Amino acid sequence: MKKLILTALLLNVCFFTYSQNSTIKSSVENVETKVDSVLSLMTLEEKVGQMVQYNGSWDLTGPASNVDAKQKEENIKSGKVGSMLNVLSVDATRQAQELVMNNSRLKIPLMFGYDVIHGYKTIFPVPLGETASWDLEAMEESARIAALESAAHGVNWTFSPMIDISRDARWGRIMEGSGEDPYLTSKVAVAKIKGYQGNDLADANTIAATAKHFAGYGFGEAGRDYNTVHIGENELHNTILPPFKAAAEAGVATFMNAFNDIDGTPATGHKILQRDILKGDWNWNGFIVSDWASIPEMIYHGFARDKKHAAEIAVKAGSDMDMEGGAYENHLEDLVKSGEIDEELLDDSVRRILRVKFKLGLFDDPYKYSNPEMLKNISFEEHLKTARDIASKSIVLLKNEGELLPLKPSVKNIAVIGPLADDKNSPIGNWRAQGEENSAVSVLEGIKNAVGNNVRVTYAKGADHGTGVKNFLLPLEINETDKSGFAEAIEVAKNAEVVLMVLGEDAFQTGEGRSQVEIGLMGVQQELLEEVYKVNKNIVLVLINGRPLEISWAAENIPAIVEAWHLGSESGNAIADVLFGKYNPSGKLPVSFPRNVGQEPLYYNQKNTGRPYSAEHVTYSGYTDVEKDALYPFGYGLSYTTFKYGVPQLTSKKLTQEGSITVTVPVTNTGKLKGKEVVQLYIRDLVASTTRPVKELKAFEMVELAPGETRDVQFEIDEKMLQFYTANKKWESEEGEFEVLTGGNSRDLQKQEFNLNK
Ligand code: NOJ
Repeated sequence: MKKLILTALLLNVCFFTYSQNSTIKSSVENVETKVDSVLSLMTLEEKVGQMVQYNGSWDLTGPASNVDAKQKEENIKSGKVGSMLNVLSVDATRQAQELVMNNSRLKIPLMFGYDVIHGYKTIFPVPLGETASWDLEAMEESARIAALESAAHGVNWTFSPMIDISRDARWGRIMEGSGEDPYLTSKVAVAKIKGYQGNDLADANTIAATAKHFAGYGFGEAGRDYNTVHIGENELHNTILPPFKAAAEAGVATFMNAFNDIDGTPATGHKILQRDILKGDWNWNGFIVSDWASIPEMIYHGFARDKKHAAEIAVKAGSDMDMEGGAYENHLEDLVKSGEIDEELLDDSVRRILRVKFKLGLFDDPYKYSNPEMLKNISFEEHLKTARDIASKSIVLLKNEGELLPLKPSVKNIAVIGPLADDKNSPIGNWRAQGEENSAVSVLEGIKNAVGNNVRVTYAKGADHGTGVKNFLLPLEINETDKSGFAEAIEVAKNAEVVLMVLGEDAFQTGEGRSQVEIGLMGVQQELLEEVYKVNKNIVLVLINGRPLEISWAAENIPAIVEAWHLGSESGNAIADVLFGKYNPSGKLPVSFPRNVGQEPLYYNQKNTGRPYSAEHVTYSGYTDVEKDALYPFGYGLSYTTFKYGVPQLTSKKLTQEGSITVTVPVTNTGKLKGKEVVQLYIRDLVASTTRPVKELKAFEMVELAPGETRDVQFEIDEKMLQFYTANKKWESEEGEFEVLTGGNSRDLQKQEFNLNK
């Protein structure tokens, strides 16, 4: 009783501090003392309650826990629930919070989580597309806006960023991450977390972020979603974990574990990953939420006998909160009472959950995210401007033969053809949060907005994009055969000076559960392209998609190709900005585009093998039918101007433990327009205690150069940059020879060498 009064006083003090000087920040000081104080009052049942997360709507992303709505409400009232997902709007979150605040004994506020993956209402490019901007400030800004819009609708926790390294274009969720490179993904992770969480989580316009999916989810065998992951310790530490470590260091509030098993252990039941590495070695103090029902799914993995066993495994492994799995709420109490689980494990989990709630300022004001005033201060128009800017930056120019682009002001007759040309829905992407259906500016609209009346713009759909999915959960309806629109498209193309072919993927063709064995232009789109090409060769192919596509024929035949992803709300305007040269493209691929799907998984930072490529011998590591390298490699992207790279200059050829080498890379704009270029630096460790990639991105910088201008771009190499997970099972560097390679993509690089002598 005494303790209860103490906490009531403590909570009152928090409210008091808030209302007195409205500096929420001051009220989150001494979080640890407050957490301990609350924890000391909690019954076992209440502790379990904090570790339970319920879904709040019918917007399910997997099988639900089978608790009916009425019972859920009762459980929320009695403090048996710690957080909810998919509860949207100021009113809905207020109502749910009131259930807790008006009925439960300890009144511990709920957190409200949601998949705000690339925007809440204003939709930005899908993460893979946005990463192509290589613009970390822009990525931070889109996260800041997403946080603001979410917070104004009651949501205080996003399940983003997804930072799974993904190298397999067959995997539908490749669009949700930042591609194939650990360094670039780490940088994006930090930018996103900063954008969502700001400098102080307690600010009403910031929300808690989630680093997911811990770990290895992007490596599902054969690109099949949820599939088994076979990677060893070396790959785990050197490739998968670095972005997660960066996220932990950046202070991400929560982690989400993963559906997959990894080398025989489901990620959700993985003690080494969760307890030993994340909470131990990295000393991270946030909490881990399971993925949707991933705790009971350990039964299907054949790793747990039943839900009770699954709960025991998960909690021992360090999973703190059960997302809609029904395992913790039904079994944790018994497991503690029978002595199978030590209550201290629950204390640790609850402490972590309370810590985040205190940091969010929810104990000061449980309704601070359910404030209708916030929405009044938001300018969605301003947000759309930013969305347009970021979308333009995310576009990658893949080919531009004969300088077909930018379109000349003299062009007076443009044909816009293809199933995605007037599609206002697909650019919104799969994880669209509250982005409205059909709310994107289509390419056709964007073109019309840009040209005015004295340019003739004709349109023909030509064909379907091969799919007709209505939403996130429904299967694709594949339309492979209907060519009835071809004749109109051909007619329109014949009469045009230039043809914009807008082809690619439906919004729901990528995303969760959307793995494919074919990654070409689905349906009859390829045929449509070839037929149109027969009557007009002046084609600009605009790709709208979420994954790397197999476009070898187009790369060979079509003069101009623009990779425009699922770009979000302002898609068509951003594409028009690039096509007409209002924005000079600066995007670079964050993922390799294959020549053939059979090359997947494909990535630039591969190992050399014992039989590297040789043109003279058959018995090398390659294919007999297709070249081994990418069609368009990681880091690749053109501009309307051209850049010339000089040989990198090193201040020294010897690096010591404490010292550094400055690398100077002269870059000249050799074209006629001002343009931006992402200057990239890669390093190769030539001999090491484990095999090492042929090159690894270690630094990049974006520069903007006027025509004729040369800039000496400088990078510092130090010992830390050379560290990796060695045969000693430690992050350390090893002495010896290294190559430093610089250039404008991962293939066309110039090299110097240096030695590390510690
Ligand atoms: C399952 C997905 O794997 C995860 O990323 C998402 O956050 C949850 N569903 C919640 O919707």
